[in-house]
Amino acid sequence: DRRRPVYRVQGRIFIQKNSCPKEPEILRGVLFRPDDILIVTYPKSGTVWMQEIVPLILSQGDPVVVDTVPNWDRVPWLEARAYIQNLDQRPSPRVFITHFQYNMMPTGFLKVKPRVIYVMRNPRDVFTSYLHFSRMASYLVSPGTQTEFLNKFLDGKGIQYMDCLSIAFVHFYPLCLFSLLGLIFNPETGIRRLWPLHIHINFFSSLTLVIFGSWFDHVKGWLSATEQHIMYISYEEMILDLEASVTRMAQFLDTPLDSEMIRKITDRCVFKNMKKNKMSNYSLMPSTMMDQNVSEFLRKGIAGDWKNHLTAAEAENFDEFYRKQMKDVKYTFVWD
Ligand code: PPS
Repeated sequence: DRRRPVYRVQGRIFIQKNSCPKEPEILRGVLFRPDDILIVTYPKSGTVWMQEIVPLILSQGDPVVVDTVPNWDRVPWLEARAYIQNLDQRPSPRVFITHFQYNMMPTGFLKVKPRVIYVMRNPRDVFTSYLHFSRMASYLVSPGTQTEFLNKFLDGKGIQYMDCLSIAFVHFYPLCLFSLLGLIFNPETGIRRLWPLHIHINFFSSLTLVIFGSWFDHVKGWLSATEQHIMYISYEEMILDLEASVTRMAQFLDTPLDSEMIRKITDRCVFKNMKKNKMSNYSLMPSTMMDQNVSEFLRKGIAGDWKNHLTAAEAENFDEFYRKQMKDVKYTFVWD
């Protein structure tokens, strides 16, 4: 039953109200190096695309790494505990990826100032992609109807997942609660334990929250990080001119590439070719986690697909909300 909310995401949940006030505990142990490269995205903004492009730039077009190592291993997640523990063993320059908001980054990151590539995408397309993704990824909360998910997306109250144990707990919450009640009231076992309040709160809030919070907070936060060493790029710029985008990224990463290397990298990373790479298209994931029959991970790979999905009323509602939220932002977005 795909409508039933399922909670099988790795991570402890932090609840936030339209912002992320808290430095996640998981980042405290990360020792950043000056030559680290951090790719930052709001979900569905071009994450896996960057996990393909950046390693290819660093290898000067040699495809071995993208052909043999799954994207989550070649460019690991800062929010994944399993990778965080072994980061020190990775040789420089290390490349990571994260969806964390800027105000969640730890002091070590702010001091060391590693290079960051921040990728933005038209939030209407982010929404559309996210809706399809939430329908196919069984570990996400069921999105409900398009309008329900739109309200959630614009509202942007977020959760962060960082601890496998508690998410497993939350996933099986109804089942566990049921058995626990049995234990609590079983006079023979005499068990009288109650779960901490946050587990109950997390379960019920998961129904109304989006992962990693508001797109608007995310983008405004990272755009305000002017003291950091950041290159900003948009998904739309990459769609419009991938060669120019690769060239700009290579310059930012101080990796000289000749025109033949750039052409080779671009060719590997265009949607139709990258979609075939099983190390990058999530076909290695079990279908019980990502059911690509419902919607493919590399779904359409275009700019403007929102026009095929949002109703006129939803688009208007989105525009009005967008105008209010972004009125003080000076950055010129390609989609405006
Ligand atoms: S996630 O879950 O946050 O990691 O998702 P993310 O990778 O950020 O976003 C997935 C969307 O990016 C599209 N994509 C691409 N578009 C064009 N070219 C290439 N090579 C490419 N690779 C990934 C992917 O198709 C998702 O967008 P939609 O609109 O759903 O197709």
